[in-house]
Amino acid sequence: KNYKITLLSGDGIGPEIMQVAVSVLQAIAPKFNLTFAFEAALAGGSAFDATGHPLPAETLALCQSSDAVLLAAVGGEKWDTLPSHLRPEQALLGLRAGLGLFANLRPAKILPQLIDASTLKREVIEGVDILVVRELTGGIYFGLPKGIFTDENGVRRGVNTMAYTEPEVDRIGRVAFESARKRQSTLCSVDKANVLDVSQLWRERITKLGAEYPDVKLSHMYVDNAAMQLLRYPKQFDVIVTGNLFGDILSDAAAMLTGSIGMLPSASLGEPGKPGVFEPVHGSAPDIAGKDLANPLAQVLSAAMMLRYGLNESAAADYIEQAVTKVLDSGKRTGDIMASGCEQLGCKAMGEALLAA
Ligand code: NAI
Ligand code: MG
Repeated sequence: KNYKITLLSGDGIGPEIMQVAVSVLQAIAPKFNLTFAFEAALAGGSAFDATGHPLPAETLALCQSSDAVLLAAVGGEKWDTLPSHLRPEQALLGLRAGLGLFANLRPAKILPQLIDASTLKREVIEGVDILVVRELTGGIYFGLPKGIFTDENGVRRGVNTMAYTEPEVDRIGRVAFESARKRQSTLCSVDKANVLDVSQLWRERITKLGAEYPDVKLSHMYVDNAAMQLLRYPKQFDVIVTGNLFGDILSDAAAMLTGSIGMLPSASLGEPGKPGVFEPVHGSAPDIAGKDLANPLAQVLSAAMMLRYGLNESAAADYIEQAVTKVLDSGKRTGDIMASGCEQLGCKAMGEALLAA
């Protein structure tokens, strides 16, 4: 099978880590009878410098016509004083809107080799493997009315509205049930249905959808309890599905269980058959850019997520994840995950170790 992949290396460490991910994809392709047609395009600060816009129209068009988009990271101090519509982050928002990305998938997996990198207790985090599925284009971040209003008594009031429609809940629900099927077939839907009407609709729709997925074990949890359970006994979770605001908070909390930002991939998906965007959770790390110090593993694991969730090539995704495990097992580390007795490698050397594995 042939796939057209758009590469957005962006800024900072982006080009260094992207190069590693591409070499890994190229190396595994023949084994799985795949070919990749890679096309690089500009996004972020470097795109602004070259074209005056952080997401040039050609870039978006290329993304829309590809099978998947692999993104590294955008941003840097150099562009921090630009007006907001020209800032590098605008590229991410433009991609979300232009590709209709409504589902954000954020895995938090504790790799046994890195357990000491976490500040949490070993018995709490050992074996944790969670996927947070966050709704990305609805909820309180977009609901109307919104704004700061002054009433007839001159009192100012800040307003946001948490709203979900049935179709919006159904489509994120489907992504979550399908994702659960690719994992341990256990789904926990998180809401605040004891207080919020919008959550009652959410729970009703997710429950209804559950009848179509009898093989997936479905449960519901209030968000305050979910926050406690994530810290108390995170192993109980497989897939968590939740709305935009709750998902923003819980996905960051779950990620930090792993204690290592250079290891965390993510996926943002739109309608089935449309290209998704796959990127590490971390930013452009300007402090270490160009020094061959970056950890490329989050980018490589993002490429694995692209195979699993974007292209339905799970066997190839497994293979890449196993190579990462193998390299860590052999004691090789980049600086950010260095531990005593391990061998410290730069970004390039880590890439070579992966290819060897
Ligand atoms: P950051 O994630 O870039 O860096 C935070 C810290 O983690 C730094 O010390 C960095 O060196 C380290 N780090 C990050 N990724 C690493 C890797 N792969 N290997 C080794 N160390 C790594 O976050 P920060 O510093 O807040 O933001 C830097 C720039 O990135 C800003 O312009 C920000 O707006 C942008 N950013 C972009 C994101 C994106 O493209 N999705 C997400 C977050 C921030
Ligand atoms: Mg966040």
